[in-house]
Amino acid sequence: MLELGPEPGSPEYAAWMKEKAGETPRPLRSIRCQPVKTVPPHHAPVRMASGGDIAEIFGDPAEKGNFVIGYTREQGHPVCIDLEKFVQRSAGVFGATGTGKSFLTRILLAGLMHHNRASVLVFDMHNEYGFNDTASDTGLRVIGLKTKFSSRVRIVGLGAGAAIRNNTPDFNLEIAMSDITAADIELLTGELNLRETTPTVLHALVKSFGGHWFRQFKEMNREEVEIEDEKGKIRRVPHPESVAAWANDNGVNVVAAEGLHDKLRRLFDKPYIVEKPAADSLGQMIDSLENGKHVILSFGNFETDLDYLFVSNLLTRKIRDAWERNTNSFRSTGKDEPRQLVIVVEEAHKLLNREMAGQTAFATIAREMRKYYVTLLIIDQRPSQIYDEVMSQLGTRISGWLGDEDDIHAVLSGLAGREALRGMLARLQPKEEVLLLGWGVPMPLPVKSRRYDDNFWRELFGAGGKKDEAQIMKELGY
Ligand SMILES: Nc1ncnc2c1ncn2[C@@H]1O[C@H](COP(=O)(O)OP(=O)(O)OP(=O)(O)O)[C@@H](O)[C@H]1O
Ligand SMILES: [Mg+2]
Repeated sequence: MLELGPEPGSPEYAAWMKEKAGETPRPLRSIRCQPVKTVPPHHAPVRMASGGDIAEIFGDPAEKGNFVIGYTREQGHPVCIDLEKFVQRSAGVFGATGTGKSFLTRILLAGLMHHNRASVLVFDMHNEYGFNDTASDTGLRVIGLKTKFSSRVRIVGLGAGAAIRNNTPDFNLEIAMSDITAADIELLTGELNLRETTPTVLHALVKSFGGHWFRQFKEMNREEVEIEDEKGKIRRVPHPESVAAWANDNGVNVVAAEGLHDKLRRLFDKPYIVEKPAADSLGQMIDSLENGKHVILSFGNFETDLDYLFVSNLLTRKIRDAWERNTNSFRSTGKDEPRQLVIVVEEAHKLLNREMAGQTAFATIAREMRKYYVTLLIIDQRPSQIYDEVMSQLGTRISGWLGDEDDIHAVLSGLAGREALRGMLARLQPKEEVLLLGWGVPMPLPVKSRRYDDNFWRELFGAGGKKDEAQIMKELGY
């Protein structure tokens, strides 16, 4: 429903605007759009929405910050999302496999990068977003974000000497053993099948070795040595540098300690965890993000869930700490407002499921919203496996077709009018269509999703834009 107000230009109109807008100037549409409370009266005239109507509600594509995400289904009028609003709360892109989540995410990220009001950090588990790629179904080339935003996007490869699709990343990420905390291990409980004794052992390790616990534990052996006791009898006892010897000395159950030692071997063997990283790559990443650059972390060949969970959570914890510090310093000094940051996670249910939700840094971010200038963009095909408390916090939700009732239910959690929305979701085309919903959009609307192709880039950079020109020349073979 739109409130029209008094005649524009009249003194009443100015007064009405002032009353509606309050102190902070807001776009007209956010003042006038109101939820529908009644059905229209009998014989009310009905007409199709025009492009102007859509622009009035969703924003004018010509205005900065309004980003075309798709087109109305029947008439193809462009539908915008407000990027400023989009980054203020965590958001989600959902849909069954093959419905176009990754493509739509590329479009959104390109919009955010072009708009340049937030830094973006992508945990790129399948090496999709940085360098150019080939679409698995059509065999067509898919432009990577690095190609278009070369100076503003840093591609970080996990592990020394990592190559991503035969490309060299801007720098490599190694993780210092001293950065690993007990909590980082505890959240791998499911993945490493850790026992309930783990927290006790970890606690004792940290007590014994402080920040060096990981290295010390890794270096312990499992050997025994023979010693002769007073009566001249030979006995086998734990080697002084063994796990058992440490456990005995510290009142820790030997079986529990050795069990954990066995299970952590999968981490001990990771080549990207080193005693001393060749460069402060973590610091470099944070620095890039603070200074308005975007970082795409490519996992390269480290594509297991263990790598993904461990690395993304550790980094997110560190980054969130940095942003919390920056925010607190900004609050007390009023100087250097932190840069808004959007963290993008694919297969989010692996990090935000019910079991992990209490422990991961991601859940903290989803819960506290934008308090520290950090929000999430989560991408998932199984939203029902994401903790519902996280789901209901999501502002903007963009969902493609979903086949599963539970998934549909999850995408709609916390929203009003779920029955009608459920119908809209169920009737989407399996490809190329998405439903926009949530707090970030003025009303739910199914749209044909924008195509990610050469035309997209031409429109984004504007005809005659410098980059665009270079691109056209290249395509023409000059
Ligand atoms: N906006 C788009 N522009 C161009 N092509 C698209 C778009 N959306 C989807 N496609 C086509 O659909 C295919 C599947 O899309 P995509 O890889 O994004 O699916 P997905 O939802 O990420 O799947 P998965 O869950 O398996 O990762 C693409 O390879 C592409 O050919
Ligand atoms: Mg995908």
